[in-house]
Amino acid sequence: MATAFADPVMPFPGFDRASEDNILVNPQATADGSVHNVYNRLRDEDPVHWCEPTGYRPFWAITRHADITTVSKANSRFINSKRTYLAPAEAEKWTLDTVGDTHLFRSLVDLDDPLHMKLRRLTHDWFLPANLRKLEPMISAVAKDHVDRMAAMGGECDFVNEVALFYPLRVIMRILGIPESDEPMMLRMTQELFGAQDPDVVARSKLITTGAGMQAGSGNPQVDLFQLAQEYFAYFGAITADRRANPRDDLSTIIANGMVDGAPIGDREAMSYYVITATAGHDTTSSTASGGLEQLIRNPEQLAKLKADPSLIPSAVEEMIRWVTPVKHFMRTASEDTELNGKMIRAGDGLGIFYWSGNRDERAFADPFSFKVDRSPNAQTAFGNGVHMCLGLHLARLEIRLLFAELLPRLESIALAGEPKNSIANFVSGLKTLPIKYKMR
Ligand code: HEM
Repeated sequence: MATAFADPVMPFPGFDRASEDNILVNPQATADGSVHNVYNRLRDEDPVHWCEPTGYRPFWAITRHADITTVSKANSRFINSKRTYLAPAEAEKWTLDTVGDTHLFRSLVDLDDPLHMKLRRLTHDWFLPANLRKLEPMISAVAKDHVDRMAAMGGECDFVNEVALFYPLRVIMRILGIPESDEPMMLRMTQELFGAQDPDVVARSKLITTGAGMQAGSGNPQVDLFQLAQEYFAYFGAITADRRANPRDDLSTIIANGMVDGAPIGDREAMSYYVITATAGHDTTSSTASGGLEQLIRNPEQLAKLKADPSLIPSAVEEMIRWVTPVKHFMRTASEDTELNGKMIRAGDGLGIFYWSGNRDERAFADPFSFKVDRSPNAQTAFGNGVHMCLGLHLARLEIRLLFAELLPRLESIALAGEPKNSIANFVSGLKTLPIKYKMR
């Protein structure tokens, strides 16, 4: 039997299967962690579970590590292009009626092979460790700059909003060749994309850019998202034109001048390429660094172990990624009738692969609800698997490693200065605030 989460949701008055299905998609249950009660039961009793949440198209919930890996690797049997992430049925219909496609973007995660692989190849080598090594001095300098800033804050800060959000943002913007003056705008746009379910995150993102607090949205989240996509497309349309006319040594130049089958890549594909790199490239990493620091504070013996032996930093980073799992799920659609762990999946059925559940599966991890900086083995599944496995995984690991390599030797003491809070989101999520007090060298 899996370990119960600290704040049990089940059983509760009026509990029934329908409410369990609703919890799986409920952004609040992800934010307060109570979704683990459902993950735990499903992994034990119904690991391939037919789920019918109110307001969503039904799907199979895949909660065991082994099944998540199987589905992720069988890319022609379980395809991406029909349904990428869990959105309310009404929102999916609105997008289909308005854009003529179920997706606002056509980024790598929305596509299947052969086009997916042709597009991925354009930047695949760029994201390999051999190329990233060249960036290490730049990333190290950005990490040092952010740790210096933390040291200058006088011993108290909100680590999320004053440090972690800005460090990976600066790195990915340098990589894309986007000027520092546009970083606040990029941050706001990512926060609106992944944080749209959390009014605090949306309000904060407006404040970062305009200093004016929340502006009125349209009242329809899909309209807001559509407008956001237009904003992204306008911004990156100008970048494409510029890099085609004036190529530079940056990732934007590679995307803008990318060729597929002898022709320049389509505008929508190019825009979506920038968007996924710019967005997936910072929110995930900052959530992992913040959630990782929170666990070091909550587990002082783990922090002491790590400080005493910095060679453990790479394994601590892997544990932070497992613990936080900033991407909570992705969707697949069966392309044919197929069997999965004893259940018959029909062609056209959706499947939700719940990485956070896979990363707490005691069939794959000893004592999965404990945070251990020296966990070994650690086959965490937060980056996915198969042909869509995270393109930026080496970059993410490098950034988090360099941040903690800079921070830990300078940290004399650290404690929570308030209760950390998670963003209310069921797709990409993590801490939205981590108040800390500390002494630094
Ligand atoms: C795809 C997680 C950081 C770029 C993905 C997927 C996951 C993921 C789960 C989908 C995998 C699948 O469907 O099998 C993470 C986590 C990160 C992280 C946990 C940090 C801790 C980054 C960074 C970048 C990035 C830094 C840099 C640009 C991408 C791209 C894809 C992707 C472009 C699409 C790949 C494809 O469909 O071929 N990521 N990611 N990610 N990620 Fe990341």
